[in-house]
Amino acid sequence: MTTVASIQDPEKPLTMLTAYDAPTARLADEVGIEMVLVGDSIGNAVFGHDSTLQVTMSDMLRATKSVAGAVEDALVVTDLPFLSYGVDRAQTLENAGRLLKDAGGHAVKIESGPHTVELTEAMTDLGIPVMAHVGLTPQHVHGVGGYTRQGTTAEHAAEMLDLAKAHEKAGAFSLVIEHVPREVGAAASDELDIPVIGIGAGPDTDGQVLVVDDAVGLSDRIPPFAEAFGDVRAEMRTAIERYRDAVESGAFPSEAHSHSEGLDL
Ligand code: KIV
Repeated sequence: MTTVASIQDPEKPLTMLTAYDAPTARLADEVGIEMVLVGDSIGNAVFGHDSTLQVTMSDMLRATKSVAGAVEDALVVTDLPFLSYGVDRAQTLENAGRLLKDAGGHAVKIESGPHTVELTEAMTDLGIPVMAHVGLTPQHVHGVGGYTRQGTTAEHAAEMLDLAKAHEKAGAFSLVIEHVPREVGAAASDELDIPVIGIGAGPDTDGQVLVVDDAVGLSDRIPPFAEAFGDVRAEMRTAIERYRDAVESGAFPSEAHSHSEGLDL
């Protein structure tokens, strides 16, 4: 079973993939994905929003419960959604706790800033493992003006690394770093003891994460740093068209799909 302890000092790159439902989580777990992330990207991937900002605690609780109930080995990390943390300290701790206690997650992920250092320490002290997240933090989309590359100057990259180190010191067990130059991903991995999971951060981090819809080829469009390893969208489209055609032509349901009790009606 993957735990926050077992992913420290990995011998090969760690794999993390998002999942928002039980069937996807079960598949990821069965093929040996080490960490399943119930990302607040559920807002884009599942609900069709253009950002993650509308995702609520109840969305995350429902999805986390489905995912946590489906996996046997993977570590289930779940996002604290926009404004569920940082506004009120007690509320932050309660929300983080609910994702473990009520929904069965194993750890929370928090989009990190200077204000989350103390929160990371408090959560860790209470027994809530925290994964930090620096670089592109999609909950700040309006503040940064889009889903743009981060850490593109030496000064900004150094600030980001300092923030990452502050979260490590505060007790974070791992760090996600998103949409940064590969040398920033590499430096984070070198300079931090905890495993650094990259997304759009080059090949030199301790692991990689992708949004599952991007990875399987279900998304309409994918970020430049992602790769579609399949074409589920085309497969689904073909299956849905076949279903439509079969119903319209009367080929479905066939005798094999029907039963009779010989009722005289
Ligand atoms: O919400 C999410 O899916 C994420 C990953 C992209 C890291 O935060």
